[in-house]
Amino acid sequence: MKNEFEGARVLITGGLGFIGSNLARRLVELSADVTIVDSLIPDYGGNLYNVESIRDCVQVNVSDVRDTHSLRHLVLGKQFLFNLAGQTSHLDSMTNPMPDLEINCQAQLSILETCRTHNPKIKIVFASTRQIYGRPLQLPVPETHPLSPVDVNGINKMAGEQYHLLYNNVYGIPAAALRLTNTIGPRMRIKDARQTFVGLWVRQLLEGKPISVWGGKQLRDFTDVEDAVDAFLMTAASSATNGQVYNLGGSETIDLAALAKLMIEINGGGDLEIKDFPAERRAIDVGDYYADFTKIRQELGWGPKRSLRETVETTLGYFREQLPQYL
Ligand SMILES: NC(=O)c1ccc[n+]([C@@H]2O[C@H](COP(=O)([O-])OP(=O)(O)OC[C@H]3O[C@@H](n4cnc5c(N)ncnc54)[C@H](O)[C@@H]3O)[C@@H](O)[C@H]2O)c1
Repeated sequence: MKNEFEGARVLITGGLGFIGSNLARRLVELSADVTIVDSLIPDYGGNLYNVESIRDCVQVNVSDVRDTHSLRHLVLGKQFLFNLAGQTSHLDSMTNPMPDLEINCQAQLSILETCRTHNPKIKIVFASTRQIYGRPLQLPVPETHPLSPVDVNGINKMAGEQYHLLYNNVYGIPAAALRLTNTIGPRMRIKDARQTFVGLWVRQLLEGKPISVWGGKQLRDFTDVEDAVDAFLMTAASSATNGQVYNLGGSETIDLAALAKLMIEINGGGDLEIKDFPAERRAIDVGDYYADFTKIRQELGWGPKRSLRETVETTLGYFREQLPQYL
């Protein structure tokens, strides 16, 4: 990886967010020349503190990917674009659908148009999501599973992903997409459940409040953020990934009540409350999900390296130290 990224000019959209900032940190370690663009809209996961320790090694451009004028300037001369900017809340996408449409769909098309016009050789890796499958018809879910999103966010992310593949196929702009499952680790949003319910659980646990678990029997897989970063880098580094989509997955499958209990055990104490799903969340819940990630394992040799226990330990350890920066 050092050879691939040493001195490489890299743009990360959403680079002040959870996954983007962990990716930026790794790219700095690999001696890449990193530019971040992030809007820092308060309801989303961007946080300047996420890049505090690499602040002198990255350029941070606080702007919005909906602004086509700044985008042109930002993509010029870059070799890699890690495209992670997004509105991530499923519920917000239902109560306030237009920003989700603008960011996750329309802005993705304008990012690609900007690349086509000003930098068609740039390699793009897009952060797609398992949400686009909707309710699984089979488990584990392979990439060939039908796409049938259950919320506005899933529809817009699906379109965003498909635009990337289209621009790869029609214009030859090298692009690939990773369909992420629940990703957890240091620097995630813990203020509320907008990014992931696990973020809110971390906050509740560290503040001595009971973890609220809705339902509890749903099966999920979780990717450690460092494993997700590995996948972004491996996908960017290989031209064989152009035009491809890959599922990411986790080292194990677990139901949500068991995950809450594991977090309590690792924390050394805490409580959980099983609650009924609020109706508005039940309507957009996908039920059980876990990914079949054979494709990326076979083609790129990617697989989760961290156990769920290690991931939870690292995550709780990080937020125990840094809690005030994330509230
Ligand atoms: N975390 C997960 O479990 C998960 C799962 C599936 C897919 N994803 C995808 O991965 C990507 C990154 O997710 P994350 O978990 O790091 O979330 P995040 O909210 O921490 O990161 C997204 C970043 O994008 C920025 N952003 C949002 N709108 C923007 C705009 N208009 N212009 C510029 N920046 C903007 C936000 O400020 C934030 O920093 C997202 O596209 C998300 O859909 C994440």
